[in-house]
Amino acid sequence: MDKDNLANEIRSKVDIVDIIGRRIPLVAKGKNFFGVCPFHDDTNPSMSVSRDKQIYRCFSCGASGNVYTFLMQYEHKEFKEVLKDLGELVGINVSGIKINKIPTKYDHLYEAYNLACKYYQNNLASSYGKEAKKYLKERGLDEDVIKKFEVGLSLSNKNALTELLLAKKFDLKDLNEIGLTIDNKDVYNDRIMFPLHDSYGKIVGFSGRIYQKTDKSKYVNTKETAIFKKGQCLYNYHRAIDQARTSKYIIVMEGFMDVIRASSVGIDNAVALMGTALTNEQVKLIKRLSNNVIICLDGDDPGKKAALKVGEILLKENIEAKIVTLPNNDDPDSYILTNGKESFLNLIDSAVFYSDYKINSLKENINFNSDEDLANYINQVISEVVKIDDSIRVEIILKKLAKDYNIGYNTLEKRFQELKSNLKSAPQIVVNKPKRVRKNKYLLAMEQVLYYMLNNDWVIDLVEHEKIIFPSNETRLLTNEIIYYYKKNRVINIADFYTYLQTKPDLLQSLNEIVSSVHKETISKSELFAYFKVIKDYSISQEIKRLEELMKKESDCLKQAKIVEQIRKLKLGDNYNG
Ligand code: UTP
Ligand code: MN
Repeated sequence: MDKDNLANEIRSKVDIVDIIGRRIPLVAKGKNFFGVCPFHDDTNPSMSVSRDKQIYRCFSCGASGNVYTFLMQYEHKEFKEVLKDLGELVGINVSGIKINKIPTKYDHLYEAYNLACKYYQNNLASSYGKEAKKYLKERGLDEDVIKKFEVGLSLSNKNALTELLLAKKFDLKDLNEIGLTIDNKDVYNDRIMFPLHDSYGKIVGFSGRIYQKTDKSKYVNTKETAIFKKGQCLYNYHRAIDQARTSKYIIVMEGFMDVIRASSVGIDNAVALMGTALTNEQVKLIKRLSNNVIICLDGDDPGKKAALKVGEILLKENIEAKIVTLPNNDDPDSYILTNGKESFLNLIDSAVFYSDYKINSLKENINFNSDEDLANYINQVISEVVKIDDSIRVEIILKKLAKDYNIGYNTLEKRFQELKSNLKSAPQIVVNKPKRVRKNKYLLAMEQVLYYMLNNDWVIDLVEHEKIIFPSNETRLLTNEIIYYYKKNRVINIADFYTYLQTKPDLLQSLNEIVSSVHKETISKSELFAYFKVIKDYSISQEIKRLEELMKKESDCLKQAKIVEQIRKLKLGDNYNG
């Protein structure tokens, strides 16, 4: 059985509603199921999942596809892995099937990073790595951890990586561009090297740490490149996916060493910010794993400040995180090292909600003997309380406030209601909904015809019979694929067609656009002919335009006359043959 047939068989044995429904809540509405699309920022249920068609589509961001494309995007896996997962679920072994990777224009760059990673690892294992090994050992990192995190070593005053990669026929220009070399020389000298991965687990850069006394900066990261954007990665994300899903929470830490330490004691659901503020992209990554977030940054003042900031950013995205406060001189790394796993897990258990933490932090610098300060403080607290989504917690906090400062509960409650209604009437923050381009009549007609071709054999037959040719390149290519697929399989099945297009990402994009725009359930023959007419008229008008341009450049009278005749015929509509 070939790859596509196998994939189709596995697909036919699972129900997309079941698979997606286990991951995001779906609500039945009419024939379809609806949920909040996980592929863009949203709170509205704009994703529809069809049991009949076994596809999903989002009317807001335009994502669409079958069960495979959903899992690939949602779980950050390659097709091969998703196929294996679903195969296991339905008891079909896929191990004998060879699946070619889809080539991308960055493949050779990833290859350079992989080679560099191996090279660094070899250095660490070699006699050059003695001092670095000693340093790692002193920090309590054993061989297993070094191996798991692919820790390596760059060498001092050598140009060995550059030479190695040049010998492997890599281009110097490329190497400079991806930050492995600078001015044609190795970027990293005598540093302990940590590979950085994207959310799929591909190496996209490095961070190198000093390990001997020097005034050089502690860490040097790969510069931002076409494939490495610091704000789009979280350190250890790809390894944290499984445990974050099973444990149902994710821990956000500050640095590599924190995450590595946690992992060394079996806490694998931690990711690190790599010393930056939390970005929207990172929030999205976190949300894919869990809405229960524990912020565990360093115990010092900058760490506390950063925790508030991260908590606030998450709250704006509807996640109320919990915050762990470490002793002043600790980071998760040192805390776990001295106090052990159990003690750290106890801290995680006793983490406080962001809003409680924030309210507590407001106490700083308040002179509680001053009425004005106190009133200020109470107002600030209530401003925080209105952001809390849980009415029981709200009541608990207000009651405690009333008791602690001897203020009537009703007074506080009244103020709370005032601020709450202000909040509601404040202009809603508009989430950056992807803009949909306005489409002209012709584009719409073309989309409709393609959509119904994907769902009905007879429409394909009719398009062929009527010799409909789409004037735009992409859609013509897509039509050809649909027809080819139909002839090969003697039936069109949209869900399987997605699998078929797996190796043609550009066409998948066009397919997304078509499927995710609005269509009626069925179409009649006469409606279809009306669309055909729009497409034909458009083709004719394009052809006339082309001829008129030609005319302008033509000096030969005889040829001019010929063109005029052609245009006349086109305008009469009797010479249009596709
Ligand atoms: P830390 O200084 O807390 O590093 O910075 P760390 O993880 O505790 O590392 P050790 O224990 O000193 O070895 C937190 C993170 O900030 C980034 C790194 O990603 C680091 O993990 N950072 C820090 C840099 O990018 N450059 C620096 O010079 C320092
Ligand atoms: Mn630290």
